[in-house]
Amino acid sequence: MFTFTQDNLFKIELLKKEYPAPQALCLPALWMAQYQEGFISIDAIDAIAKLIDIPPMEIYRVATFYSMFHLQPQEKLVVDVCKTLSCKLCGSDAILKYLESKDVRIRHVECLGSCGTAPVMQINDVYYENLTTKKVDAILEELL
Ligand code: FES
Repeated sequence: MFTFTQDNLFKIELLKKEYPAPQALCLPALWMAQYQEGFISIDAIDAIAKLIDIPPMEIYRVATFYSMFHLQPQEKLVVDVCKTLSCKLCGSDAILKYLESKDVRIRHVECLGSCGTAPVMQINDVYYENLTTKKVDAILEELL
C-alpha cells in the first residue's frame, strides 16, 4: 500500500491551489511518488488518482508515456543518454562507450531538449551537460 509522506501531501495540496486543473498535478505527483519509492507502483498510481481525482488509467498513461518514470524497481542506476544529432556531433558515442564500462543501465533516448549543451545525459530529473568522460566519472562517483 502506497502512502505519500506528509511533506509530499502538503506539496500536492499547495499545487492544487496553484493549478486548479487536476491533470496539471499528474507529473509532479508522479515525480514525488518516484522519489519516495524509487519507482512508481500501481498502488502509487491509485493513490495519485484518488488524491487529484483523475481515473487511475489517465495517471498510468502519463507514467508509461514518459521514459523517465520507472514502473518497476531499478536494480541499477538508470542513465538516459541522448542519441540525437547535436549530441552525436558533440561526442555522445564516446560517452555511451565509456558508460558501457560502468555498472549502470543505459537507455538511448531522443533529444532531451538541451542541444546547446550537448552531449547530454539525464539521471532521474537531473540533466548533466557538456559531458566528458571525466565529468561522467565525477557524476557516477557521487551517485553510486
Ligand atoms: Fe541531445 Fe538535443 S540532441 S539534447
